[in-house]
Amino acid sequence: MATTLVLLGHPERRSFNGAWADASARAARDLGHEVLFSAPHDEGFDAAEGPAHYTDPPSPFDPLKAQEGTLPADVAREAARLRAADRLIVHFPMWWFAPPAMIKGWTDRVLAHGHLHDVDNRFDTGRFKRLEVLFCVTTGARANESGPDGREGNWQMLLWPLAQTFRYLGATVKAPVAVHGVHGYHTGAAQEALQARLSDTLARQAGLIAGWNDRANLSFNADSDFDASGRLRPDAPSHSPFIRQPG
Ligand SMILES: Cc1cc2nc3c(=O)[nH]c(=O)nc-3n(C[C@H](O)[C@H](O)[C@H](O)COP(=O)(O)O)c2cc1C
Repeated sequence: MATTLVLLGHPERRSFNGAWADASARAARDLGHEVLFSAPHDEGFDAAEGPAHYTDPPSPFDPLKAQEGTLPADVAREAARLRAADRLIVHFPMWWFAPPAMIKGWTDRVLAHGHLHDVDNRFDTGRFKRLEVLFCVTTGARANESGPDGREGNWQMLLWPLAQTFRYLGATVKAPVAVHGVHGYHTGAAQEALQARLSDTLARQAGLIAGWNDRANLSFNADSDFDASGRLRPDAPSHSPFIRQPG
């Protein structure tokens, strides 16, 4: 049986992000998947890596070396969920042009060095070849502000560091999904229109999850696209301005 892990990066379970995550869980269950649900805020997960998490941390504290040892219980629990997963669906709002600290901290701590990756097991040789990842994101900004040429910055580009994180693990990353203009300051007709859009998003989530295999994957460079020093070869394709600036 396939396993889907839903990871919710929102402090309020009754938020739209919470409801959307529940819709993903329901949709995966309807497909016959075993569903695991991580809500690190509700589970008291501390997003900040540091020596307090370890019984015998290296001194001075070296996070990579600390992670190679026995995993803290909360990290071991999350890592076990991730290892069990065929699919990971991450739900979060954009906060300051990036995923919230809880999602960043979850990756900082859970994707532990020496356990989930190391220098011999990353990118093309990552341990998570089986894993497929989907980001479901909300922005407070409107679609035009959040898209190409938008003043908030292109939301898909803002997600590249998180996508690259899972690519580093060897996973496949699906084209992300966003709902824009989500905030509690609408009134009257605008509020009703937003509620209708949000309800529609929840109603369509089953179809989106059922269509998983038809959803495009993000493109990343293969290991062989880089020379021995780690530079992209001049004739290699460019998939991200984070690696090769256009022009
Ligand atoms: C700390 C913080 C930072 C935010 N930064 C952004 C941002 O950079 N871009 C944006 O579009 N919205 C931003 N917002 C708005 C949230 O994205 C928006 O409130 C959220 O998507 C609504 O989803 P929810 O109803 O599930 O909380 C921010 C909100 C907070 C609380």
